[in-house]
Amino acid sequence: MSSKKLKVAFIGCGRILSLNALGYVDHPHAEIYAMCDKKRGRAKKAAAEWGAKVWYKDYHDVLKDDNVDIVEILTPHKFHTPITIAACEAGKHVSLQKPPALRLSELDAMIRAAQKNGVKFKVFENFRFHLPYVHAMDLIKGGVIGDVYVVNYRMWSSISPLSSWKVPLMTWKWRIEEENNYKMPTIFDDGYHKHSGYACNCHL
Ligand SMILES: NC(=O)c1ccc[n+]([C@@H]2O[C@H](COP(=O)([O-])OP(=O)(O)OC[C@H]3O[C@@H](n4cnc5c(N)ncnc54)[C@H](O)[C@@H]3O)[C@@H](O)[C@H]2O)c1
Repeated sequence: MSSKKLKVAFIGCGRILSLNALGYVDHPHAEIYAMCDKKRGRAKKAAAEWGAKVWYKDYHDVLKDDNVDIVEILTPHKFHTPITIAACEAGKHVSLQKPPALRLSELDAMIRAAQKNGVKFKVFENFRFHLPYVHAMDLIKGGVIGDVYVVNYRMWSSISPLSSWKVPLMTWKWRIEEENNYKMPTIFDDGYHKHSGYACNCHL
């Protein structure tokens, strides 16, 4: 690996930025370079907070910036496909938040764009590494609990978080709108976490 640090631009400076950006703080091979949000004030504030050199309102300007090596896409789901394809075409590597797309055809198009342009494309899914899930997978794979026929998840959800993490109401709003979730808000948002680890570890 060369000593040059890869420059990362964040597209979408909402709620999850405060956790996602932490992964690049003091990273040996990458640095936070740019912040972008269609709400100008958010981009500017995030740039100051995370020490980004530049900020943008329009993601097309991020993609025109030759300094940017990687984009972290943290927008609502329905914008994932157009931004990812445009980023690949601009030669940027892409890290995309879950769920990658609302339709399989969109995901296929993103994969094709990455392959065609020779860039890396990963979908960011943290719950595969969440210890209770990892432990449950180990129990299943190790045969400790026998054959699995049914998985019963219970999830608790509320607009007021249990922690002190402030989640703006607007962050919840688009999550319950049909057009932003392909009719299935739970499955397409938190539900993705529930199915992702299971789907990748168990070949049922
Ligand atoms: N991995 C996890 O555990 C986890 C947790 C929360 C959110 N997420 C994912 O992160 C994504 C964002 O979620 P959030 O909770 O941060 O939402 P949010 O609504 O708080 O933030 C989204 C931001 O994107 C901006 N935006 C929208 N369209 C844009 C565009 N075209 N160009 C630039 N900026 C744009 C909005 O102005 C907003 O600031 C979602 O896909 C969600 O599934 C993942």
